Amino acid sequence: MQELLQLIDQHKKDIESFDTSKSNAAESFRIKYLGTKGIVKNIMQEMKNVPNEKKKEAGQLLNGFKLMVEEKYEILKQLSAGNQQSSGEISDFTLPGDDITIGTRHPLSLVRNRIISIFSRLGFVLAEGPEIEDDWHNFTSMNMPENHPARDMQDTFYIQKNPDWLLRTHTSSVQARVMEKQKPPIRIICPGRVYRNETVSARAHCFFHQVEGLYVDENVSFADLKQTLYFFVKEMFGNDVKIRFRPSYFPFTEPSAEMDIDCLICHGKGCNVCKHTGWVEILGSGMVNPNVLQNFNIDPEKYTGFAFGMGIERICQLRYRVNDLRLYSQDDVRFLKQFAGVIN
Ligand code: PHE
Repeated sequence: MQELLQLIDQHKKDIESFDTSKSNAAESFRIKYLGTKGIVKNIMQEMKNVPNEKKKEAGQLLNGFKLMVEEKYEILKQLSAGNQQSSGEISDFTLPGDDITIGTRHPLSLVRNRIISIFSRLGFVLAEGPEIEDDWHNFTSMNMPENHPARDMQDTFYIQKNPDWLLRTHTSSVQARVMEKQKPPIRIICPGRVYRNETVSARAHCFFHQVEGLYVDENVSFADLKQTLYFFVKEMFGNDVKIRFRPSYFPFTEPSAEMDIDCLICHGKGCNVCKHTGWVEILGSGMVNPNVLQNFNIDPEKYTGFAFGMGIERICQLRYRVNDLRLYSQDDVRFLKQFAGVIN
């Protein structure tokens, strides 16, 4: 036992003074100590000469030694991989440190957060849902049964594994999921990524981001819808922005309206963003169709509601004058850096 102790002590000293400067230091260390004929194996053999009553103590000693050897080997390996810092042996502390580049918030996040904060001041709470949806939540419950022509407007990515699954085409599916679980009053906004099978260009992409809103309660009227959206636009774009509603059609709302604001890019003079009309469409809206309420066992005689949906990219384009949709997903730091320090 005494000999074993001495042996281990000696090896520990050797290890401490092991020449780590050679390029193959890690490998020669491994062979010397951890190899099949290495020192660790050798010492383990000594166990058989240790009297029974000392075996436990000797075992612990040996294990401690083995751990120490393994640790040293790890350090040597990292050293030879060029990761010098891990050894703690770096000496030139006068070298300049590595630059830490501070990232910026993505413009779409800036705008999304701003939208959320505006609506939260009106009592809307955040709701989120899955990006892979089933037909019921994305379409059928939203009064768009199979073969409904309005499905055509949202060219959909289906999932091969299960024909009932798809990538959600709007976040109305989140409204569906909330109405399924919660009874009125409901006042939610649902931001998130949505997918449509469109050819990528400056004006379209196969995915984009939406914020939809839903308010269901007793006595909710179209006047409430208008006031809510007026408030939103003024908070987002300032008090001088002109607003107009145009009648429209969505299966899930009746009546429906699209809301335009005057083009902030050309101020009505005409440009390709507003297609030379002076107006830009920013959202779709309407009073929730009674069929939708019924689908979730909400009594349409007692409750009414309004809903709206907008593309975050479009709001961002108008707010920050971004002229190409592809910029949002190209991760070009020259674009992203322009939003450094923007407080939304
Ligand atoms: N879901 C619609 C779309 O994605 C937007 C919308 C939401 C319109 C709510 C009206 C009411 O096109």
